[in-house]
Amino acid sequence: STNIPVISIDGPTASGKGTVAHRVAKQLGFHYLDSGALYRLTALSAIRHGIDLWEEQQIADLARVLPCRFEKGHVFLADDDVTDAVRQEAIGVAASKIAVLPLIRKALVELQVSFRQLPGLVADGRDMGTVIFPDAIQKVFLTASVGARANRRYKQLIEKGFPANMEDLVKDLAERDARDMARTEAPLKPAPGAFILDTSHITANEAVHQILSLYTDAVRSKK
Ligand code: CDP
Ligand code: CDP
Repeated sequence: STNIPVISIDGPTASGKGTVAHRVAKQLGFHYLDSGALYRLTALSAIRHGIDLWEEQQIADLARVLPCRFEKGHVFLADDDVTDAVRQEAIGVAASKIAVLPLIRKALVELQVSFRQLPGLVADGRDMGTVIFPDAIQKVFLTASVGARANRRYKQLIEKGFPANMEDLVKDLAERDARDMARTEAPLKPAPGAFILDTSHITANEAVHQILSLYTDAVRSKK
């Protein structure tokens, strides 16, 4: 065990986890783990190796030695800058397919835990507070309506010049949420004691401020 503080931020697709977690980490000078990126990188790597997405053992072997690097907002797979490639919705869907497979989840545990370094970590994903960092000092579950989330994802994709269609997005998000919530291994659900924050009608910065004040209170009440 360790005393290095973790803030876990879990929730469904496009609830604002990445944006909010990144800003909270910056405010506190903490490290940041985008665990979804690891599932996306694993899926991308499998596709590039021509491995079918149900080949659990083969993909787990890739995941265990995933050659990934995070640098100044960019993501690398070996020497390739895949920052934009991993954000595509098709890769999100592929990630959610391999994420149901227990051997692949297990293969990514060690890498995720290695991000826990001083002075602290903000980790976002689906199972940060339930499975990977059950001793997180502050657990948050971010949500928003499907409509709000589809709108946000639509804007993000258009800004990046990716094709996006609102109808397909709503369908994709709903399917991905269902798959993430229904799986037996580390399903998406609020961790015990998590603060549930609905961001449908608030800005990302308002969410950031709420989480910072929750964290300050959590630290104070621990002393
Ligand atoms: O990581 P996750 O898929 O949960 O969400 P994201 O990639 O951070 O995308 C959320 C998008 O919605 C970003 O473009 C944010 O600027 C925007 N947004 C937000 O995150 N929170 C709000 N309360 C409102 C908008
Ligand atoms: O950005 P968005 O919320 O759409 O997705 P993401 O956080 O990048 O994660 C992509 C997929 O990886 C999710 O739909 C989950 O199926 C899976 N995932 C997971 O199972 N556990 C995590 N801790 C993070 C992501």
